[in-house]
Amino acid sequence: MKNIIKYEDLRFEKYIDNSQIIERTEEISNAIKSDYLNKEIVFIGVLNGCIPFMNLLLSKIPNNYSYNFVKMSSYLRTKSGDINFELGLNKNDISNKHIIIVEDIIDSGKSIKFINQYLRQYKPKSIKVATLLIKKGSIGLSDWYGFKISDKFVIGFGMDIDGSFRYLKDIYIKV
Ligand code: IMP
Ligand code: MG
Repeated sequence: MKNIIKYEDLRFEKYIDNSQIIERTEEISNAIKSDYLNKEIVFIGVLNGCIPFMNLLLSKIPNNYSYNFVKMSSYLRTKSGDINFELGLNKNDISNKHIIIVEDIIDSGKSIKFINQYLRQYKPKSIKVATLLIKKGSIGLSDWYGFKISDKFVIGFGMDIDGSFRYLKDIYIKV
């Protein structure tokens, strides 16, 4: 894979290799597995970015889970903006269940706080958060994270700029 990606006036450099993502995600799956022995989990993925990470994460969890999605967006190009939220859930998906929210990245924490608060009104048994990336400053907002990263924009492995580059197998950072 290429080491530099160019998009308009921006340059991105390879940052986290696919093999590291796979290795780290397996560790998170194992941690979840042992924390939820004999408990049924409902994973709630945050679209669109969650797909590659969620797929990898769930592929190592043997059974006793279901999953669902919410759709959320707040970014314009590389800048955080107003939250757009679309819910594909009903009360019965959440109420009295053990929920794990699955995110691609937590930056300011605005989105995850919003979702957390939204889901709480349906009285789940528990809510935890698994994210592939987290920017420092928001560490306290996740229960499992893959990588703590510096405060720069990233693309790849589900993460986009203007809807592009989600397909990249590795993660690239703006330089
Ligand atoms: P937050 O609300 O600032 O925590 O941002 C959370 C959401 O914005 C994430 O779920 C991503 O979808 C998007 N996002 C935040 N930072 C990045 C980034 O560096 N690259 C791509 N998307 C990002
Ligand atoms: Mg996201």
